[in-house]
Amino acid sequence: MRILVVGSGGREHALCWKLASSPLCDALYCAPGNAGIADVATCVPVAATDLDGIVALAKKERIDFVVVGPEDPLCLGLVDRLEAAGISAFGPSKEAARLEGSKGFTKDLTQRAGIPTAAYKRFTDADDARAYIRAQGAPIVVKADGLAAGKGVVVAATVDEALAAIDDIMGRKRFGASGAEVVVEEFLDGDEASLFALCDGKTALLLGVAQDHKRAYDNDKGPNTGGMGAYGPTPILDDAQAQKAVKTFVDPVLKMMAAEGRPFTGILFVGLMVGRNGPQLVEYNVRFGDPECEVLMMRLKSDLLPALIAARDGELDQVDLRWHPEPAMTVIMAAKGYPDAPEKGSEIRNLDAAGKEEGVVVFHAGTKADGNRILANGGRVLAVTAIGKDLREARDRAYRAVDLIDWPEGFCRRDIAARAFR
Ligand code: AMP
Ligand code: GLY
Repeated sequence: MRILVVGSGGREHALCWKLASSPLCDALYCAPGNAGIADVATCVPVAATDLDGIVALAKKERIDFVVVGPEDPLCLGLVDRLEAAGISAFGPSKEAARLEGSKGFTKDLTQRAGIPTAAYKRFTDADDARAYIRAQGAPIVVKADGLAAGKGVVVAATVDEALAAIDDIMGRKRFGASGAEVVVEEFLDGDEASLFALCDGKTALLLGVAQDHKRAYDNDKGPNTGGMGAYGPTPILDDAQAQKAVKTFVDPVLKMMAAEGRPFTGILFVGLMVGRNGPQLVEYNVRFGDPECEVLMMRLKSDLLPALIAARDGELDQVDLRWHPEPAMTVIMAAKGYPDAPEKGSEIRNLDAAGKEEGVVVFHAGTKADGNRILANGGRVLAVTAIGKDLREARDRAYRAVDLIDWPEGFCRRDIAARAFR
């Protein structure tokens, strides 16, 4: 089979790395990819959101199966466009991707389906939102309805902070049309966990749970990011609890989405807050998490490709995946200045030595090649990933590899997975 992966981050490198090892895969392309992905796939400079360009590329290279990594092309309808052109594609349709693309849509659906989540209200009028915030008091959470590159959520410790978020999102239109509507919701306390289920429209298959680290600096300090590191499995939601969570947070959604004429196919990423009253839904995403995907791919023993094809074909009930029992973890190395203003263009040295450490794979998240040199080309730049007989070994291996990488212009958190050792 000829495969095309869409995207350019650490998630897509991990997917390409796994798919390249499939005996079913004859040719692997990635658009646009990065310098690390180029080791396992042919990278083609077409942007993930250039739907015409991706469809044309898939036709030109006679692609049999497309795997879409990020949410933006999914929400724009890339899978619909590919399928309409006769090309099989893995991921939700535009209608099904609304589970990530509209927070208001999703909150309403959780109510209809009886899914435990924070109490909320939707607003298109800023004054109404302000009045509700004043009446509720803080802490309180304000969310832009649409996609905002992970920046559309303000967890406000005070009423003033929440009101400022309304000014920012609805007044100054910081996220454009994505902020024409907001969701204001109850603050949830607890530990966050990311649960992943492979879905074929009716059946869900648990892929596992990982814990991300959203803040930029150690001890959960600093600004929110796309994720600075992850590990899995996690004691925050063990296997039995995860199986139960699939019944509570995934099965009812699949049923409802199918009944409403937009069956969900693809990866359902369930963001959970695990507190005193058990897990509650924070959000759904319609794709693998990044960097959670790096951890999952490292632990997956089975061939990924037939499972994705079965999901696309509605035959997941015939699939059984096997996993390495060993835990894995990944440490993000980001360019200094990330997330606000990462410096681009600095050289990264000694990647080969780091990649030779036992149990280690260095996934690239934002790099480009310049002759033989590898340059930083994004905020999150590397995802240094390791597997070990226990989490301690995985952690030691990952940080040993991090320490081998010669890149003074980068930084990372030193406390990834620390919660699991508490
Ligand atoms: P989201 O984009 O909805 O995942 O929100 C981004 C982050 O904001 C989450 O990963 C949480 O850390 C935090 N968050 C979102 N909603 C809530 C909530 N209701 N209570 C507490 N934290 C939240
Ligand atoms: N790591 C969180 C996300 O992918 O949204």
